[in-house]
Amino acid sequence: MNPPLSAIREHVELFTVFDSNPTILLVDAADLNRRVVKATLRETGARFIEARRTSEAFEILRKERVDLVICDLFLPDENGMDFCRELKADRNTQLLPVLMLTSLQGSEHEVAGLTSGADEYLLLPAHPNVLKARVLSMLRHKAAIDSLDEVESILFTLAQAVEERDRCTSEHCRRLSYFSVELGIRLGLTRNELMALHRGGYLHDIGKIGIPDAILNKQGELTEEEWYVMRSHVLRGEDICRPMKSLANVLPIIRHHHEKWDGTGYPDHLKGTKIPLLARILQIADVFDALSSERSYKKALTMEEACRQLEREAAAGWRDPELVPLFVKMLEEGDEGEKMARNLRAMSLGIEGNRPSFGLGMGL
Ligand SMILES: [Fe+2]
Repeated sequence: MNPPLSAIREHVELFTVFDSNPTILLVDAADLNRRVVKATLRETGARFIEARRTSEAFEILRKERVDLVICDLFLPDENGMDFCRELKADRNTQLLPVLMLTSLQGSEHEVAGLTSGADEYLLLPAHPNVLKARVLSMLRHKAAIDSLDEVESILFTLAQAVEERDRCTSEHCRRLSYFSVELGIRLGLTRNELMALHRGGYLHDIGKIGIPDAILNKQGELTEEEWYVMRSHVLRGEDICRPMKSLANVLPIIRHHHEKWDGTGYPDHLKGTKIPLLARILQIADVFDALSSERSYKKALTMEEACRQLEREAAAGWRDPELVPLFVKMLEEGDEGEKMARNLRAMSLGIEGNRPSFGLGMGL
């Protein structure tokens, strides 16, 4: 299923050429060097913004969309390597390619430059064709990352649209993501695993996009055939997200978030620890949020009531009997605001409204 998303992906792969007017930030104290670089790269059609020092460069980066940074190793207020490290440590600029252009000879400097985060290192005087080729290659790579980021944004927006259709509130995704990550932190999960939980909070039910309204919003019991269709959302969701390599570790969450500890869940009837840990974590948060939220057909349970119900479900063999007590303890310790802040800091994520940031290209 899902021809629209496949089509989007194909187009992204076909059209990963950079914007006809990319913006290059030149950071170099020497006017002559900046003039030479601009003259060499004139044919690229790039727009140039110039900075003599890193403080100016950071100011520009706060205001302007930049596609490539070309910087010298020697700058008046900070050396180029420290500048590079700062760029790569900042979530807003970490995917920005950096070309270090310097007259400092020696392989040790090249290694140090690349280790500091520079994507390319070229010695001056650089052959004009070599400089042009490197810059064009870096701009193409940046365009590809931007395009993939757009596809991820579309997926997440779509997932929220599904939530709104299904549960009348997109806040569910946000809470689910938060509770899952918080529990993940307590379990000492890695940053990659936390990021998968964060994304899984938004994407776990994306497969419901293929479920007809008549089934999704049916008042009353579903027939056996309708349940069959409804259960297919986990496989549909996996299909939708599979093409995105950056979502590889979210796929088990999407596929297995309805498995049950005793093997009576779906789609694979996995039992116990055979169910991927991240899926078990997300499921507990999902069940808790469903219990404690109001629906058209039921009132919201209080936090205490929802916790007791979760404990009953663990005792009945449906939920992970070790994770449920940890989750309940986490909720009962309170101070949600502080935990939310810690949660976001732990992942270096930003959340604007309900939209998560995706961290594409971070090897996640
Ligand atoms: Fe689901």
